[in-house]
Amino acid sequence: SKSEVGLIGLGTMGAALALNIAEKGHAISVWNRTGSKTTAFADSAPDSFADRITPTQTLEDLVASLASPRAIILMVPAGDAVDQQIEALVPLLDPEDAIIDAGNANFRDTNRRMRDLTQPFLGIGVSGGEDGARHGPSIMGGGPRKTWDRVATILKDIAAKHDGEPCAEWLGDEGAGHFVKAVHNGIEYADMQLIAEAYGLMRDGLGMGPGDIADAFTRWNEGPLQSYLIEISAKVARATDVETGRPLLEIIEDAAGQKGTGRWTAIEAQHLAAPVPVIEAAVAARNMSARKAQRIELEQIFGRAPNSIPQGALSLDTIEQALICGKILCYSQGFDMLAAASQEFSWSLDLPAIARVWREGCIIRSAMLDDMAEALSKAPNHSLIASPFFADHMRRTHDSLRNMVSTAVRSGAPVPAHAAALAAFDTQRTTRGTANMIQGQRDFFGLHGFARTDDGRSDQHGPWGNT
Ligand code: 6PG
Repeated sequence: SKSEVGLIGLGTMGAALALNIAEKGHAISVWNRTGSKTTAFADSAPDSFADRITPTQTLEDLVASLASPRAIILMVPAGDAVDQQIEALVPLLDPEDAIIDAGNANFRDTNRRMRDLTQPFLGIGVSGGEDGARHGPSIMGGGPRKTWDRVATILKDIAAKHDGEPCAEWLGDEGAGHFVKAVHNGIEYADMQLIAEAYGLMRDGLGMGPGDIADAFTRWNEGPLQSYLIEISAKVARATDVETGRPLLEIIEDAAGQKGTGRWTAIEAQHLAAPVPVIEAAVAARNMSARKAQRIELEQIFGRAPNSIPQGALSLDTIEQALICGKILCYSQGFDMLAAASQEFSWSLDLPAIARVWREGCIIRSAMLDDMAEALSKAPNHSLIASPFFADHMRRTHDSLRNMVSTAVRSGAPVPAHAAALAAFDTQRTTRGTANMIQGQRDFFGLHGFARTDDGRSDQHGPWGNT
């Protein structure tokens, strides 16, 4: 009998996804460029569902093994490999056969592929790393709704569940799924940076050892910060290097890598004129971290920055509250960016649905996302921080954010993401800002015109000839 679905690409994520699909009762055919990998994969599949996996050695065999109209998931590295795979596959397919790109594609590539291909095409963002792919990822769908509906059962079956509700949803046309995945990753970068800054203050400012830091994260994971990233931060802080017996964090080089999805968020935010300064700060911080040689050189010239924080000047509780505040501001910016994209691309993105899809399975899953889904549905058309629930959270925590940032700044401990969050908050709650000066300057050198505050007339000019 024929398989329900095909999968191309048996790397870490593809293999895990294929096992997940088979385990949930769906017959799947798999193919990998290196045939031996396909054989090894099929041989190692657990007996209980191995009979639902059909290994194939040629693309022709893969296609022939699938029930029509076919659905084929691509899990190959984003970029050229996807185009090459599509090119090889399309001549073998019937017009109604669907291709589903489950990699971390740039949504602009997904838009292009959807436009150029005559086949139905979906771009789905899959989050949760290997473990998520194997046991329940979060799935952000984009493309033609009716194509999504054809594979929705499989995708919902394999997805993570929140109170039984699958974290897999169609979110919009075109590359909307991959766009939402990129914003997820931008938030992921920011969340990770905020946590790293809190860690830095505990390590350098408060002089805490890894065990105490792990304990703090463990405790925080029982409160409003409860999340996968806090949970694993505790585990990372507690881990010991097997070779030396030293705390693992002391062994890990402080230079962060990136595949670039968080960076795309910052780039797209600029295209949309959507302010996401916390995410931008996180991307910049990763870039600075990677320039280790420059940091060594500048420390030699200027001396090392972080000084210890005077006893009593900063409490663990303040760091926790500041982290809560920074996190809320970061997510609020992320959802505002999604709203801007929804408008720009006519996607009608359902923000509460996006928050619900992120509640389980993905890297940024957290207790707070449940509250965010509710807040966004109760106060649509408002920024998250303006919703009653999160406005309350903000009122309780923003003093801590200010205390934390100012103490860190005074001691020379860099907290760029927290500082960006605070500056954005202060900017955004100021009715009368300082851009009147910018407008004055623009009018002075370029006659760009300004609007008047007294009677609202626009395109006004200053008396520059007289100056
Ligand atoms: C996820 C992650 C994942 C991402 C890696 C690497 O949602 O499961 O976002 O898709 O590709 O974590 O990201 P960087 O290499 O850019 O840190």
